[in-house]
Amino acid sequence: EKAGYTHFMQKEIFEQPRAIIDTLAGRIKSGSPEVFLPDIGLEDEVFKSFDRVVMLACGTSYHAGLIGKFLFEGLARIPVEVDLGSEFRYRDPLVGPKDLVVAISQSGETADTLAALKEATSKGATALAICNVVGSSLTREASGTLYTHAGLEIGVASTKAFTTQLVALYLLALHMGRLRGNVSDEKGIELVDDLIKLPGLLQEVLDKEEEIKKIAEDYCQADDFLYLGRGLCYPIALEGALKLKEISYIHAEGYPAGEMKHGPIALIDEKMPVVVLANNTDVFEKVLSNMQEVSARGGKLIALTEEDNSAALALADSAVMIPAAPQTLAPVLLTIPLQLLAYHISVLRGTDVDQPRNLAKSVTVE
Ligand code: F6R
Repeated sequence: EKAGYTHFMQKEIFEQPRAIIDTLAGRIKSGSPEVFLPDIGLEDEVFKSFDRVVMLACGTSYHAGLIGKFLFEGLARIPVEVDLGSEFRYRDPLVGPKDLVVAISQSGETADTLAALKEATSKGATALAICNVVGSSLTREASGTLYTHAGLEIGVASTKAFTTQLVALYLLALHMGRLRGNVSDEKGIELVDDLIKLPGLLQEVLDKEEEIKKIAEDYCQADDFLYLGRGLCYPIALEGALKLKEISYIHAEGYPAGEMKHGPIALIDEKMPVVVLANNTDVFEKVLSNMQEVSARGGKLIALTEEDNSAALALADSAVMIPAAPQTLAPVLLTIPLQLLAYHISVLRGTDVDQPRNLAKSVTVE
């Protein structure tokens, strides 16, 4: 059943190129700027005319929502709010008929996400689900569902469900951007072609498993980890930290790199590994100065960056190279080394990777 892999989590990490191909299938085609999403069940006229998007989710799916905000705001120029199911539902939220609610869930059975979606629809919002399980409760409550075709996810730590959620959000945002006139034909074709290239780029990162395993060996004894990123990569820092803590039981925190000086910098010493998402972006120079701050205090830097980024490489104690990719897709690529790092650290520490203590695959209690 594990097809030669040691754990389901490892198998599911390696299934990601295929899962993304399946999630894209039939929805885009090379050379065309259009996105075909008949399953969302909303007329184009309706889908394009909301005033706001509200993303609701928990855990890893919430991190996907945080990235979705960048994608919708960037491509469709529509304001986006992202909230946790467990927070949104209890605060008498301001939501109504002009809002599109996008509820994101692998299982479609997470009680808080489900209740948050019901709260929004009871106030007149239109609800869409991004979900991996066909016919789950969430898909029955929403007016339409964009399915991620990740296939069955067994490992408790979510991996391929997350990256396919990112792809689904990208498709939805691009579709809305087209309908709202914000994405030209030329730009649309380019974005579609970027998506088509994504599974191949992902495979290149997966091929670095041995390197990442070596880094895991170097740092698996640490008691605490910090993950830093900016912009689109900040939610990936959160996700990397969540993955590590849930399966290895090491304390880990994800932080927007710019916030470091407002508190967490006090934690840094030579025992603290700091994972930095240091890929080439508009804010790379800012990330670089955060790396210098860590380095000056003796912190150990594990950088995720591109091969030609000599500034990041010069500072890093360890590095994982990711292929050059468009900024909006880099978060998907950066997720892979973080999954593999958490996985190998956990294996080295002998924890139960697929069934971590105290966790369940779907959280159907409030
Ligand atoms: C993390 C993880 C959880 C889930 C969360 C939401 O690896 O698996 O944080 O992401 O419980 O679950 P879904 O997406 O099924 O609503």
